[in-house]
Amino acid sequence: MKKYIDLKSSNDYSDLQEAGQIIRSGGLILFPTETVYGLGANGLDEVAVKKIFEAKGRSSDNPLILHISDKEMLNDIATDISEIEHKLMDAFWPGPFTIILNRKPVVPNIVTASLDTVGIRMPSNEIANKLIAYSGVPIAAPSANISGKPSGTNISDIFDELSDKVDCIIDGGSTDVGLESTVVKVIDGVPTILRPGKITPEDIKIVVGQVKIDKHVFSKLEDGEKVLSPGMKYKHYAPNSKCVLVYSDNNDLLINKVNEISSSYKTPLILSTTENVSKYENKLVIDIGSKYNLDEIAQNIFTDLRKVDKFKPDIVIIEGVKQEGLGLAIMNRLVRACSHNYIEI
Ligand code: TXA
Ligand code: MG
Repeated sequence: MKKYIDLKSSNDYSDLQEAGQIIRSGGLILFPTETVYGLGANGLDEVAVKKIFEAKGRSSDNPLILHISDKEMLNDIATDISEIEHKLMDAFWPGPFTIILNRKPVVPNIVTASLDTVGIRMPSNEIANKLIAYSGVPIAAPSANISGKPSGTNISDIFDELSDKVDCIIDGGSTDVGLESTVVKVIDGVPTILRPGKITPEDIKIVVGQVKIDKHVFSKLEDGEKVLSPGMKYKHYAPNSKCVLVYSDNNDLLINKVNEISSSYKTPLILSTTENVSKYENKLVIDIGSKYNLDEIAQNIFTDLRKVDKFKPDIVIIEGVKQEGLGLAIMNRLVRACSHNYIEI
C-alpha cells in the first residue's frame, strides 16, 4: 500500500483527486461504497483489471461490475437500452442497484468474462462517486475480499488480506447497507433478480409492475446447470468451520432446534438474533441484531461471519430471518455462507 486516505470523519475530499490519478495510471484502490467496500481499477484498462482478479484470487469466468458517476459514462459502455431498463436506473440510481446491460466493444473481455453484457452500477456513496468522477473512467470493482470470504464492510476487516495488494486505501468507515447491491437483468421484458439486495422485489414491482427472482438465488446449482450470473456458482461468505442455518416462523421451534443441534457438539457457536440471545444460556453466542431491524442485521452480518473463525467452533449455528424484503438478501448470503446447509422448520 502506498497511500492511505482517512475520510472516516472528514469530508475534505481533495485527496480523492490523487486517488483518481492512481486509477487512471492503472493502480488498485480499496474504496467504500454504500453497500460494501470495492477493490477498484480502471474498468477500461485490461492490465489494471487483471490485477483485481489476481489480488482476490477470483476465477476469470466471474465478471465484474463497472461503477459510474453519471449517465454520460453509461452511454460510453452500454447500448440498446430498453425503456424498462431506463425506468429502473432512473428509480434506483444512484444507489445499491446493478443492472446487466448490453455492452459496447470498448469494455474489455476481462471485465465481462467475455459475455455480451456488462453489470453497471452508479453508487450513491459520495466518496465512491467523487473517486469515479475524478478518475474520469468507469471503475471495475468487485467486493473487497479474498474470493470466497465475506465481503468487506470496513477497512479493519480486510486490511490484512488486501492492504499489500493495493496502491491506495480510502477509509470511509463502516458501509451503510452492509450487503452487496441488488443485481437485475431484464429478461423478455421482466426484471429478474440475480442477486437480492437492499432494493427489494417489492421496490422493483412498484416501479415497473413486475419482477421475477431467479431460482438460483436460493436453490443449489446442479452439476452442469447454466447460470445467468456466474457469481452464483461459487462458494461465498463462508467461515472455516462447518455452518448450519436454521429458521422457523415459530420462534419456540427455532430456539429448540438451535439448542438441540448445539447440544450434540463440543464447541458450538451460535449467531443469534438479539431477542433470542438469552435463550442460549451458557453457550457461546454472537448477537447479529434485532429481527425487527433487518437493516442492522444486514450492516453487521459480514463482520459477524468474519468473527466466527477466531473461536474455532466445531459447529456454527446461525439463526435465519423471514425471507421478506431485505430478509431475502440476508438469507441469500447466509444460505451460501452455510454452503446450502439449511434447516427450515
Ligand atoms: O454492491 C456491490 O455490487 C459491490 C460494490 C463494490 O459495488 N460489488 C460487488 O461485486 O458485489 P462482485 O464482483 O463481488 O459481485 C458482482 C456479481 C457477481 O455475482 C457477478 O457474477 C455478477 O455480479 N455479474 C457481473 N457482471 C455480470 C453479467 N454481465 N451478467 C451476469 N452477472 C454478472
Ligand atoms: Mg463479491
